[in-house]
Amino acid sequence: MTTDTTTKDTTPGAPTPGETVLDARGVTMRFGGLTAVRGVDLTVGAGEIVGLIGPNGAGKTTFFNCLTGLYVPTEGEVRYKGNVLPPKSFKVTAAGIARTFQNIRLFANMTVLENVLVGRHTRTKEGFWSAVLRGPGFHRAEKASKDRAMELLRFVGLDHKAEHLARNLPYGEQRKLEIARALASEPGLLLLDEPTAGMNPQETRATEELVFAIRDMGIAVLVIEHDMRFIFNLCDRVAVLVQGEKLVEGDSATVQGDERVVAAYLGEPFEDAPGADEVAEVEAAEAHAGTTDEATGARADTTTDAAPGKENDR
Ligand SMILES: Nc1ncnc2c1ncn2[C@@H]1O[C@H](COP(=O)(O)OP(=O)(O)O)[C@@H](O)[C@H]1O
Ligand SMILES: [Mg+2]
Repeated sequence: MTTDTTTKDTTPGAPTPGETVLDARGVTMRFGGLTAVRGVDLTVGAGEIVGLIGPNGAGKTTFFNCLTGLYVPTEGEVRYKGNVLPPKSFKVTAAGIARTFQNIRLFANMTVLENVLVGRHTRTKEGFWSAVLRGPGFHRAEKASKDRAMELLRFVGLDHKAEHLARNLPYGEQRKLEIARALASEPGLLLLDEPTAGMNPQETRATEELVFAIRDMGIAVLVIEHDMRFIFNLCDRVAVLVQGEKLVEGDSATVQGDERVVAAYLGEPFEDAPGADEVAEVEAAEAHAGTTDEATGARADTTTDAAPGKENDR
């Protein structure tokens, strides 16, 4: 992966430090009788990486859909850099919020480069007539777009596959391509819905680095993920949704240590979590006392992927 951050100072809409980029207040989404998201408040500040976790069906993707104009929340308000979001996805993208999807949405029969160029359309100033007449302005804009798309492909480490068809990429690279396409709209906030689903540990680790590099480019990040190691390594703040409601929010240590989170979602303490030493001591003592050492094995299984339902692909 190439982490070229030379665009840092030229990124349009680069944030002012301390600025609130996203401000969601009292967001509620009902589908008939079902309330999928209930009164959720969440902010993301400039330079932050915020995590959103919760069991399968907790309403995480629905909340994302409310932030991106795919759904108009039944109640509540979403502001991006102080302005209430327009209720249409393409307008939200133009305003500066980009996203990837839990189930990858690429143009399978287009090339890798073409997929990124599609992501740029909200940022190209050349209008319809310019495209039809194909004058010098059009060609200049087209070249600039292509150069930027290639730069983004280099950034995610896919430039060598620019001419490949998207459908021929392995799964992990398709997820990277989605990120490049999202970045092509030059967002100020990037929403990632389960970016490491289906990835192997090396790819997951590389994605972690990629998200840090995106943050360093001046883009705030909100990420949904089931991989707890990924989330707790990456995020400045983590919010936990359970049955549509925000149960807890805080830094990684606070969330990992919160009893309600452990009870409602995590099930088991994580390796390296605060208090893990004590747990290990107790377990060692129990094992020593001739009980069973099953507990140690069970804990090992929960370190990277404790959450059920990774297969949900809405
Ligand atoms: N378009 C929809 N119509 C009806 N119910 C939906 C719709 N989208 C999501 N839901 C329901 O809302 C709840 C939350 O789903 P979702 O946001 O996908 O959860 P998560 O992403 O946390 O796994 C689930 O019960 C789901 O079935
Ligand atoms: Mg989801």
